[in-house]
Amino acid sequence: MTKRVVLAYSGGVDTTACIPYLRHEMGADHIVAMAADLGQGDELEPLRRKALEAGADDAVVVDVKDRFVREFGIPAIQANALYDGHYPLSSALGRPLIGELLVETARLHGCNAVSHGCTGKGNDQVRLDLTVGLLNSDLEILAPAREWSFSRAETIAYSEKHGIAPHVTQEKPWAIDLNILGRNVEAGLIEDLTWEPTEEVWSLTTAPEAAPDTPAHVTVGFAHGVPVSVDGEELAPLVLLGRLNSLAGSHGVGRVDMLENRVVGVKSRELYEVPGMLLLIRAHQELENLTLPADVLHQKRQLEAVWSKAVYDGLWHGPLREALDGFVRPTQRNVTGEITLKLYKGGMSVAARSSARAMYRQELVTYGDGCTFDQSSAEGFIDLFGLPSRVWNHVSR
Ligand code: ARG
Repeated sequence: MTKRVVLAYSGGVDTTACIPYLRHEMGADHIVAMAADLGQGDELEPLRRKALEAGADDAVVVDVKDRFVREFGIPAIQANALYDGHYPLSSALGRPLIGELLVETARLHGCNAVSHGCTGKGNDQVRLDLTVGLLNSDLEILAPAREWSFSRAETIAYSEKHGIAPHVTQEKPWAIDLNILGRNVEAGLIEDLTWEPTEEVWSLTTAPEAAPDTPAHVTVGFAHGVPVSVDGEELAPLVLLGRLNSLAGSHGVGRVDMLENRVVGVKSRELYEVPGMLLLIRAHQELENLTLPADVLHQKRQLEAVWSKAVYDGLWHGPLREALDGFVRPTQRNVTGEITLKLYKGGMSVAARSSARAMYRQELVTYGDGCTFDQSSAEGFIDLFGLPSRVWNHVSR
């Protein structure tokens, strides 16, 4: 049977070397390179040409920026997704979408296999393999970089042997993954836990020390948990995120330096620049605090960690995420209103909150005039509230 393969193509050294490797070492007869535009800012036509020059039979580019933000970014904001408390899953959220595109492209081009350039040490292989397996288990998955044991230099030498032009771009001493939700930097110098990143590592954020001396105030409007406006101006999700990335980034907000617990069991040090996502999650958390009853809020905070881990682990298409979204969805009904954040030299604080659906009621809490809270009920309430503890004390004597 002829082997027709769709390769997830990024234009980088590894996925480019995958093209000759698939053909010469893994028996691929027909290779379709598929590049997804998730807002990484690459020009797509040169990317397509590069894949063809490297020996792909066909090359397609798909612009999924808008879909990425709507279908993946927004649910993550609604879930206040922060893996291990810090990482808003900017890279992780892209993989189930790339997996979906591999499956769709395979169907359109009559392919029986898909391929990616992930190594066997990372999370991305887990996410892509799980996604493809869950969406179409008939597709064979070929992962050249999991099979070859090339060093960086050997990968480049292998490509050159197969007529691929040497990579002219200056190699950085670390690896970068970029999309509209954020930027990840890992490996190389970053592996040394005592090395404090120098400014050239960062590109979406200004150093907090160099950020403006005057704070910025920004108001984000939400409708049912979806961010819809910035400073009163209604914006489409993709535009809104782009705007907040530059605003927060220019104030030094959005840098994360974390020791991360990978799915495959290793700890790895990772740097992220996620200004827009961190800002939106912060504002969304605050609006939820204003609009949700305490019991729902507290339960949701527990489940958010579970949601984040499931998505980090590559189970976007699994039943757990779907079930958790079934919890999240109705909680967003009243998450409508505006939160103003103050950005100053890498810090973010809440400056104002408002919502027509707020559960904060001044007439209940005020010590001023017009209070409707019935204080006479408090004594009986406290009596019953403490009852089980008093019984416990009694029987424990
Ligand atoms: N460690 C991060 C994650 O698992 C980032 C992965 C970035 N991917 C890459 N191929 N550089 O989500």
